[in-house]
Amino acid sequence: MKKKAIAFSLAAMLASGVAIPTAVIAQPIETGYQEALDQFDQKAIRKIDVDRIYNHIATLSEAPRVAGTEVENRSVEYLKNEFESYGYDVEVQPFTYTGYTEPSRIDLHVPGMESELSPGNFTYGVSGDVTAGLIDAGIGSPADYERVNAEGKIAVVRRGEFSFAQKVINASEAGAAGVIIYNNSPGALNGTLGGHDDRYIPALSLSQAQGQALLEHLKANSGAEARIVVEGAETGEHTSHNVIATKHPTNKKKDTGEVIVIGSHMDSVPDAPGANDNASGTAVTLELARSMKNLPSDTEIRFASFGAEELGLIGSRHYVKELSEEEKDRIVANFNLDMVGSRDAGDLIVASVDGEPNIVTELTQKASKKLNGEPTTRGRSGSSDHVPFHEAGIPAALFIHSPLEPWYHTPQDTLDKISKEKLQDVAEIVAAAVYDRARFDNQNPKEKIREKSSVPKEAFFEQPIR
Ligand code: BES
Ligand code: ZN
Repeated sequence: MKKKAIAFSLAAMLASGVAIPTAVIAQPIETGYQEALDQFDQKAIRKIDVDRIYNHIATLSEAPRVAGTEVENRSVEYLKNEFESYGYDVEVQPFTYTGYTEPSRIDLHVPGMESELSPGNFTYGVSGDVTAGLIDAGIGSPADYERVNAEGKIAVVRRGEFSFAQKVINASEAGAAGVIIYNNSPGALNGTLGGHDDRYIPALSLSQAQGQALLEHLKANSGAEARIVVEGAETGEHTSHNVIATKHPTNKKKDTGEVIVIGSHMDSVPDAPGANDNASGTAVTLELARSMKNLPSDTEIRFASFGAEELGLIGSRHYVKELSEEEKDRIVANFNLDMVGSRDAGDLIVASVDGEPNIVTELTQKASKKLNGEPTTRGRSGSSDHVPFHEAGIPAALFIHSPLEPWYHTPQDTLDKISKEKLQDVAEIVAAAVYDRARFDNQNPKEKIREKSSVPKEAFFEQPIR
């Protein structure tokens, strides 16, 4: 196995007559890094126990961990207890956000229309039961409502040019009682209004074909009516949590003042057990905290588990927003582990938001080259908790396997699809990369890391993650 072979020292391989993997000798390293693992790398990865990671995933993925629910709260307790059992001080940071409960029933009935309509809901749409005459309101702009009288009517509006929310608000301000927005290209329409607004009126979506059929029906039957029903939809304040365990520098006198944040999100989407997304990253974060607990270090390491990522990076945004300017300056790197264990996904990628190298990608490529003989491929990606760090000017990158597995955000994202080998690989790479920076005798000023890059330019290609 490639990886294990490279974990041996070169000397041991030569002595035992084992063939040296070509990856080690085929890539001359110009900058003088050792090819084999040094004592610090060994120390950083020695205590990683992949069975512990796997067992955390088993526990966390028993049920979907949707933000703001009882299951997410149980995960918060689990993480807090685990971190504390390793000897850490743990902060549980609550935050609130506006959450949306999907309607329990939606219905669109048009008396006299022969074809079946299959409407969709808009996230943040409001409940209501409206029966009224239909009008064709074009694109739904204020100019459209000068042309037609929408008072008390249900406006039929085409998608495009401006947001769904604005279309609902325009209709509402023109006095309409309901809105139907149909697609402007083939296929169903599943949209979001982006957030709550007091002006909303009940709104449903239709595919392009069904929207056009509805307008045909209206043309042929002037005064045609419809009934829109949206039941049980609710927008309200919800609470979720971040959990942060801190490893302080082990010798106060040598404290560099620098902080590294290793983070991952704990929540999942509804109906998905989220074994890979993201019990995997959460479990690796836990095991890194445990295995690195007693490492001598001159850098603070924070192990963070963020809530409500799937609702729009809410937990990590809250965490970064609450940092003082002084703390932001001290954070030199954010390692974001999100979907790091799927047997059915591709290779590991370390992706920054802008696709440019930074301290995280450099440390990662240096560590992975030593561990595996070749550096982890770099890529570019947003869509996860490293984004708020990047936006605050903190070097950050996402660890993910690409291409994604087919189970992403489905009920099939379960424990049986998890690869221990992938978990072990990511855990070792991140541990070695972080410890390269955090270990005691690392007196290199920050800039040196960039100068000393041993990673050939060709190792970068822009990797489409999905
Ligand atoms: N685990 C994914 C992250 C991800 C990153 C997936 C890159 C695919 C490619 C994450 O949990 C997620 O699903 N993110 C959302 C966006 C987020 C802002 C709600 C997504 O990508 O749809
Ligand atoms: Zn995720």
